[in-house]
Amino acid sequence: HVEADLDLTKTLFTQEQIQTRLAEMARQIEADYEGRDVLLVGVLKGAVMVMADLSRELNRHVEIDWMAVSSYAGTKSSGVVRILKDLDTDLDGRHVLIVEDIIDTGLTLSWLVANLKSRGPASVEIATLLRKPEAISMPVDVKYVGFDIPNAFVVGYGLDYDEKYRNLRSIGTLAEHMYS
Ligand code: PRP
Ligand code: MN
Ligand code: MG
Repeated sequence: HVEADLDLTKTLFTQEQIQTRLAEMARQIEADYEGRDVLLVGVLKGAVMVMADLSRELNRHVEIDWMAVSSYAGTKSSGVVRILKDLDTDLDGRHVLIVEDIIDTGLTLSWLVANLKSRGPASVEIATLLRKPEAISMPVDVKYVGFDIPNAFVVGYGLDYDEKYRNLRSIGTLAEHMYS
């Protein structure tokens, strides 16, 4: 329905499939955090759609805060991450649930988890909609995973290629002619 849909080779997950899975994850989160306050921490910019939909699936109070981080020098392989926007919230004694769109190499999140854990929270867990194969071998423990996906370039629903396609409702692989 949007022009940008034409650039997709293949739809991996429709809007409906995403919502259904997020609702399942929300039920798990509600059960696991019963009786405890939760702070959802979204990682800008990719996580905006997941945060908007996952948080609204939760039938309970949550707080929401955001961080913006950037991989150093344009490559993610170093695992050196820079904070572009830090949290407004003090994490002391808080139950933190990081909300991400995708874990690719896992380097961003393993750095972020270590960084947030150093701030004295009661707990730090991760919820991601997508996870790629490489990340499964990372030491970072991911409590909530929407879908494990093959190692393809995916866009839509927050995920970008060169800052585009974030506004697609579905998630798909990009046609090769769009980036070759
Ligand atoms: C993407 C994605 C994750 C991260 C995963 O963000 O949204 O945050 O990469 O990669 P990794 O597991 O290999 O570290 P990106 O740095 O592209 O910024 P964006 O969210 O603003 O698109
Ligand atoms: Mn991101
Ligand atoms: Mg990106």
